[in-house]
Amino acid sequence: MKKILISGATGLIGKKLSRKLFERGYQVEILVRSKPENKSDFTSYVWDYENGFIEDGALDGTYTFIHLAGASISKRWTEAYKKEIYNSRINSAQFIFEEMQKQNIHPEAVISSSAVGIYGQITSTQIFSENDPPAADFLGNVCTAWEEKAHQFEKLGSRVVCIRTSTVLSEKGGALDALKKPIELNFGAVLGSGDQYFPWIHLDDLVSIYIKAVEDVSMEGAYNAVAPDFVNNRELTRKIAAQLDKKIWLPNIPKFVIKAILGEMSVLALEGSRISSRKIENSGLQFGYDTLDKALADLIT
Ligand SMILES: NC(=O)c1ccc[n+]([C@@H]2O[C@H](COP(=O)([O-])OP(=O)(O)OC[C@H]3O[C@@H](n4cnc5c(N)ncnc54)[C@H](OP(=O)(O)O)[C@@H]3O)[C@@H](O)[C@H]2O)c1
Repeated sequence: MKKILISGATGLIGKKLSRKLFERGYQVEILVRSKPENKSDFTSYVWDYENGFIEDGALDGTYTFIHLAGASISKRWTEAYKKEIYNSRINSAQFIFEEMQKQNIHPEAVISSSAVGIYGQITSTQIFSENDPPAADFLGNVCTAWEEKAHQFEKLGSRVVCIRTSTVLSEKGGALDALKKPIELNFGAVLGSGDQYFPWIHLDDLVSIYIKAVEDVSMEGAYNAVAPDFVNNRELTRKIAAQLDKKIWLPNIPKFVIKAILGEMSVLALEGSRISSRKIENSGLQFGYDTLDKALADLIT
């Protein structure tokens, strides 16, 4: 059985991906910061990249390493927390690379999460594709360094794939819960102008992209993981409300209010780019949820 080692496997994406890979016959093993209290379905190894620790055997026989670990970007971006967002993705990848080098481990592939935040949050008609340069802002810098660390694994002979992920919509947890809550309480409102794009993907489609990246050896480099349907914040808010059988009666929340509440990270709510899904579609991926209507009908029942 081929061993897939996953960091950040206990999170929103990792949980579903681990299960799907296991069902497809892979030997899934996971890196965790602390041992799960309840018995886990998968062999887990404790790692602590900050203190250079990884349990013996964790890396042995790794066929594919999937790097999902990272502190959430949804907490207020203080300077200290920005460091944690950065280090948990970049220093952790560097640590695994050095350990693999030391232990003479050569995975066939390393698949790293990245994010569409690499292009910046730019509300315009431009459609960003994988050839566009990174933005020179905080998330652009994080994603650039994250992908550079992933590409380091090429020195071990690994095929490297970076999955530039958009906001993941899922049944439980993640962004959709946060988006639904005020609407369910009849306090939903469009944010700012409402024109900002909201690049999104259904969790099942994202998991399919990761599985394809494991199995399709022709995949290499960066791929946007985003549904083909462009929606802005106004359409998103109205469609969620319609699916919940609710009305949006409040006026748009002004930008300055959101900026005062969220600080620097308000850019995630107030601006957003159009992102192309063409490359991943051309690679043969068929979206199960290519429109927001289909995704919401599946996720909000
Ligand atoms: N969900 C989205 O909408 C979205 C969009 C774009 C990109 N992504 C990226 O995809 C990856 C996985 O996303 P997700 O939504 O599954 O995230 P998640 O639910 O927040 O899970 C991330 C996992 O990373 C580990 N982690 C958390 N803080 C850490 C830290 N300080 N140092 C090291 N590991 C830490 C945790 O695993 P343990 O506690 O087991 O160690 C956690 O389960 C992340 O890198 C994220 O940035 C997600």
